[in-house]
This record gives sequence, C-alpha cells and structure tokens, in this order.
Amino acid sequence: AAIDEATEMMNNIGCLFSGIRHEIGNPLNSIKMALTVLQNNINKYSPEEIDVYFNRISGEIGKMETLLKSLKNFSMFETPRTSNIDLAMFFDNLMQLLGADIQSKKIEFRIDIAPDARQIMVDPRALQHVTMNLLANAVDAMTETQKPLLQVRSQSRGNVILLSITDNGCGMSNELARDVFKPFFTTKPHGTGLGLVISKKMLSQMHCGIDLVSEKGVGTTFHLTLPKSATKAQRTDAPPGKSRENQQPSAFAC
Ligand SMILES: Nc1ncnc2c1ncn2[C@@H]1O[C@H](COP(=O)(O)OP(=O)(O)OP(=O)(O)O)[C@@H](O)[C@H]1O
Ligand SMILES: [Mg+2]
Repeated sequence: AAIDEATEMMNNIGCLFSGIRHEIGNPLNSIKMALTVLQNNINKYSPEEIDVYFNRISGEIGKMETLLKSLKNFSMFETPRTSNIDLAMFFDNLMQLLGADIQSKKIEFRIDIAPDARQIMVDPRALQHVTMNLLANAVDAMTETQKPLLQVRSQSRGNVILLSITDNGCGMSNELARDVFKPFFTTKPHGTGLGLVISKKMLSQMHCGIDLVSEKGVGTTFHLTLPKSATKAQRTDAPPGKSRENQQPSAFAC
C-alpha cells in the first residue's frame, strides 16, 4: 500500500507539473505572438489596433496571475489548526458572506443540520475554503436550471458526520465525474481546474474525506466525511485501547 501511495503521489506531481507547464506555456506563447505582431506593425497600426494587442497581453498575464493565486491556495493551511466547530453556526456565518450572491441568482437554499450532527473537529479556515469552492461549483452548475435548489445536510454516521451539498444543476457523466479531482481538469472557460484538487488535499490533511454522486441533467451531491468532536463523556470515559480510528465505520472512514 505504501508503494501504491508513493506511485500515486508521483503521478499526481507529474500531472501537476505538466499542467503548470501547459497553463503557463499557453499564455506565454500568446504574449510572445502578440508582441511579435506589435513589433512588426507598430508604425502601421492605429492606436485602436494596438490596443487590441495590449488587451490580449493583459488578459494572458491575468491568466498566469490566477494560476499563481491558485497555487498559493494549494499550500494554504498546510498544518491544520483544528478546533471544535458548530456546523449550524459555521453555515450561518458562511451565508453572511454568500447569501446575497445566492439570493441574487434566485437560488433556493435549504439547510438541514441534524442535532446530533453539529459538532466537528476541523480547521474552520480550511473548511470555509472547501465549502466555498463546492458552493461556487454548484452555483456554476445551475446557471441553466429552471428552479435552482442548493441543499446542505448533515447526518451522524458513527464517529463521523456526513455533510452533503446537493445541487440540481447540469450534473456529470460518469467519465466527467472520474476526472474532476485531477489537477487542471476544467470544463469552464475561466476555470483553473484546481478547486477540487485543493479542496481534497485540505480535507485529507484534516482526516476528512470527499466523494461525489452525480447524474447528468439531474444534479450532483458532494459528500464530506468530517470527524465528530469528542463529547465530554468520550474524552473522560473512553475505554482504554480503543482509539477513535478503530471505532470509525469503514464505509465512511476518511
Ligand atoms: N456541482 C457540480 N456540478 C457539475 N459539474 C461540476 C460540479 N462541481 C465540479 N464540476 C466539474 O468539475 C470540474 C472541476 O471543478 P474544480 O472546482 O476543480 O475546477 P473549476 O470549477 O473548473 O475551476 P475553478 O475552481 O478554478 O473555478 C468543473 O469544471 C466541472 O466540470
Ligand atoms: Mg471550482
């Protein structure tokens, strides 16, 4: 298993490098071409024509800046600072940030946090980053949806909490769903294809898992498995020799 993990890591790094080469190589090529055209025609072109090339160059530089910003996210929260988080409060706060945007897009938002599925042990900054990514993807997926509906649900599953984020957007084919965690995979004209890669990395650093169920034309649900905060009873009366890991049901182990 260790060899498999190492191989997978090397594959991921290889994938990441070739992605970066591609993501920087393309805009660099466009800039080079635009500059050559300008250099050869600077005396012939009108100011308007020159402006077209300047705009193209700025646009391409913008793409590289976006990439650099995403790569910075990649190493954000490397060492998670986990604390006890109340999911209901967490989403209240998040809605103060995103609520207006969701409302302006006429998206119905439903949230259902089960009373026994509220307290989790995560880094709130990382969880905010992840949920914002997932909600942004859901919103993107629902642009063509007649009655867009976004649902957040938390349920208790043994020692973990299952947090589901469901949209009734465009959904994905099985092929597409297999590719979404690959670096730089995107179907959006301005996407980086790093949102889910970074989210998955942040989650695994916090011993959390992410999975998805999707149907083309129907919608998508992302499932997160998040470690429950230890209750007072567990902290004081935990039987010796029984670690939290051992108690996790295997189907939902992160
Ligand atoms: N809820 C969803 N519904 C349908 N497709 C989705 C959903 N979430 C992700 N996808 C697909 O997965 C791809 C990868 O998503 P990811 O968040 O990693 O990158 P992105 O959204 O394309 O780019 P960025 O996050 O930089 O804006 C998306 O381009 C889209 O095709
Ligand atoms: Mg995204």
